[in-house]
Amino acid sequence: MRRALGRRLGGDSLIYLEGGKPVPRNFDVEYVFRQSSDFLYLTGVEEPGCHLVLDPKTRRETLFVPRVDSHHRVWEGHVPSPAQAREIFGVDRVMYADELKKFLGRRKVAPKARLRDALDELRACKTDGELALMRRASEVSGAAHRAVMAAARPGMKEYELQAVFEAECLKAGLKHLAYPSIVAAGVNGAVLHYRHNTATLRDGELLLIDAGAEHKGYAADITRTYPANGKFTPRQRDVYQIVLETQKACIEAARVGVVSADLHVRSMRLIAEGLKSLGLLRGETDGLVEGGAVRMFYPHGLTHMLGLDVHDVTGGKKRAMPNPTKVPVRFVAKLEPGFVITMEPGVYFIEALIKDAALRRKHKTSVDFAKAESFLDFGGVRIEDDIVIQADGPAQNLTDVPKEIAAVEAACAR
Ligand code: GLY
Ligand code: MN
Ligand code: MN
Repeated sequence: MRRALGRRLGGDSLIYLEGGKPVPRNFDVEYVFRQSSDFLYLTGVEEPGCHLVLDPKTRRETLFVPRVDSHHRVWEGHVPSPAQAREIFGVDRVMYADELKKFLGRRKVAPKARLRDALDELRACKTDGELALMRRASEVSGAAHRAVMAAARPGMKEYELQAVFEAECLKAGLKHLAYPSIVAAGVNGAVLHYRHNTATLRDGELLLIDAGAEHKGYAADITRTYPANGKFTPRQRDVYQIVLETQKACIEAARVGVVSADLHVRSMRLIAEGLKSLGLLRGETDGLVEGGAVRMFYPHGLTHMLGLDVHDVTGGKKRAMPNPTKVPVRFVAKLEPGFVITMEPGVYFIEALIKDAALRRKHKTSVDFAKAESFLDFGGVRIEDDIVIQADGPAQNLTDVPKEIAAVEAACAR
């Protein structure tokens, strides 16, 4: 990674990258530290207070680590010596951070914007080594999801289920979550970034859980939705099946050269058709997609890049392209081998949208609002897997958690 970056930037300038710094929370206490993703990418160093200097000309790599005193050793324990750090991280030289200023002297450093762009470009395609780390994050997160499926019962609190998920990850040695767990019972499933996790799961409701751990910085991002009592009602089954069929069709279509925004439109069309069959939408599918009526029930993107960040870099300026579709989409990129992306369609019944006067006027011919209101106790369904784009053929799915209705009901069996 460091070599590739040196080649990309070249020239006489040094490449300088600062690692994350500890963030104080209050007296003597710091927030849990998580290394900056760029620094992890280039060094694998998980400790705060480090710096990296690469010299593209001489190819010399110098890591700067904090100088620790005996006080630090008393409170924090063993810290690798510079010689040990050199060995562990495979750099040419390790120096102390207090020597950095003198080391840089008057030498020119590559501008931050160029460095940012080069890193965005490099980080987009995952190497085999990175994919192995992502597989581990997915494997552990998938097992944790299955444990929650087996544990969920009406009467449990959302945070009890969160505890099951997070304990499984921690027991496997994955100390960091990739993002705050969303554990949403019933109507809370319609809150896209629900974080309270304090409600009680009730009989007859769905549970939507969007949670993933990271391994050496690499994220998993997985969502499953299933019935609290282990058996879908006919109405839950209808909505679930629309989301599932949409997700499977989009995974099948996610191949090299396909533009992510076109996949998003495909998912909107499939959801529009499904919601038409339930009588929630009416009219031509194109009009429902382009006019935004589908967004009343599916107001987020289908996919995003996944890697060291849960919403990972999108490939740098070189890959930037105009959105070829008629709908607003944030992530627009032509898929390449080694891209890891999520596939996460959903259908939600969101009071703030369904009751909005301006939206009701705008979509009065396309949406059956009386019917939509009858779903206000429903919550939502999202199904999210993580996939790797392959050079040939269909994508490889990293997520191993039941999602077919029969398999979900079997996994939730009491
Ligand atoms: N968990 C955040 C997302 O699905 O994008
Ligand atoms: Mn996601
Ligand atoms: Mn997610």
